Amino acid sequence: MKKKISTKLIRSGINQTQFMETSESLFLTSGFTYKTAKEAEQAFKEEKKRFMYSRFGNPTVEMLQRKLADIEGAEECWATASGMSAVFTIFMSYLKKGDRIVASRALFGSCHHILTVILPKFGIDVELIDGRSLESWEQALKKKTHMIFFETPSNPCLEIIDIENVVKLAKVKKVLVVVDNVFATPILQKPLKFGADVVMYSATKHIDGHGRVLGGAILGKRKYCQEFIKPFIRNTGPSISPFNAWILIKGLDTLELRINKQTENTKIIINYLEQSKFIEKIYYPHLASSSQFNLAKKQMSGGGNIVSFKIASKKNKGKCNAFSFLNNLSLISISNNLGDTKSLVTHPDTTTHHRLNKMEKKNLSISENLIRLSVGLEDPDDLINDIDNSLKKLKKN
Ligand SMILES: Cc1ncc(COP(=O)(O)O)c(C=O)c1O
Repeated sequence: MKKKISTKLIRSGINQTQFMETSESLFLTSGFTYKTAKEAEQAFKEEKKRFMYSRFGNPTVEMLQRKLADIEGAEECWATASGMSAVFTIFMSYLKKGDRIVASRALFGSCHHILTVILPKFGIDVELIDGRSLESWEQALKKKTHMIFFETPSNPCLEIIDIENVVKLAKVKKVLVVVDNVFATPILQKPLKFGADVVMYSATKHIDGHGRVLGGAILGKRKYCQEFIKPFIRNTGPSISPFNAWILIKGLDTLELRINKQTENTKIIINYLEQSKFIEKIYYPHLASSSQFNLAKKQMSGGGNIVSFKIASKKNKGKCNAFSFLNNLSLISISNNLGDTKSLVTHPDTTTHHRLNKMEKKNLSISENLIRLSVGLEDPDDLINDIDNSLKKLKKN
């Protein structure tokens, strides 16, 4: 039966035991036993399909993977211990010495670190470009390339990359296209529909959504997952804990509800920010005044729950104003996490992106007065009051 996404979030992937439990069962076990030595031999030779060891597979983890694959429209999913272990698995399982990866430079800090510090140590050539420019992709792909990697929208300034047209350029050259879909979530954007080969998530964010556990996911074609992802995870062990997988399954039940409500709350807050004289600039995918609005509308069904903005500041006052704004909030919490039911606020310049040099920050619009807000499920009036009170205190300083 063809199911809609709300049904898939609740029903897909479930594997009930003989006890017919309503809530998915948690198999908190590292190992599994065999009735006979022969059975163990058959399992290791892959003549018999069964669970052997939770680094390779686990019934709770399998439920999460099947559910995520169904939601995404992917042939296969592999869950990992964190979003970063998903990113690292994708790179290290596919690329080898002498290979080349082209990535958009608007990236989460740790992705930037892997690309600029770790991969070059293994002899992998990395080029970072302005991912918004199709010409830059075309130019970069003139050199033999093996993988393309980008975030859309990006962290923290929500740059949008044209998935369909980047994929078109990549396909001509047979380059694997990997999309970090964390900010968009599986609810608002489906990169596989635009032809991307691989989608990854930090499930730590919206998929959990309650700030409880770390997790990651890699989704793509069965052939790719079996050839590259399965042997890498099985042998190097970035595997997710069954407990974390169970929490993430429960998170998925309410993902669509949360994303839709959080997106609604974000729009209300943006309306307020647009009127505020304290705000110099707003970054949001579905902002009508943004030059990327039409592209964002084409590939995202909603703008999501992350908005970044710059506080109007005199020269050299940016950090002071940003810190005062954060410190004077009484409801919204300061945290580098995002996608939570609680609203969270970050100063990217001194936290998530502090390792970037001045030029890199400038290219990504990460200035001292930039704030990233992950809007939660609190009443938007209360959130606006909190933001308003804090901004008004700036004036008095
Ligand atoms: C866009 C993006 N990708 C990947 C990650 C890494 O995920 P994790 O913290 O689960 O390792 C993050 C974390 O903030 C992120 O924002």
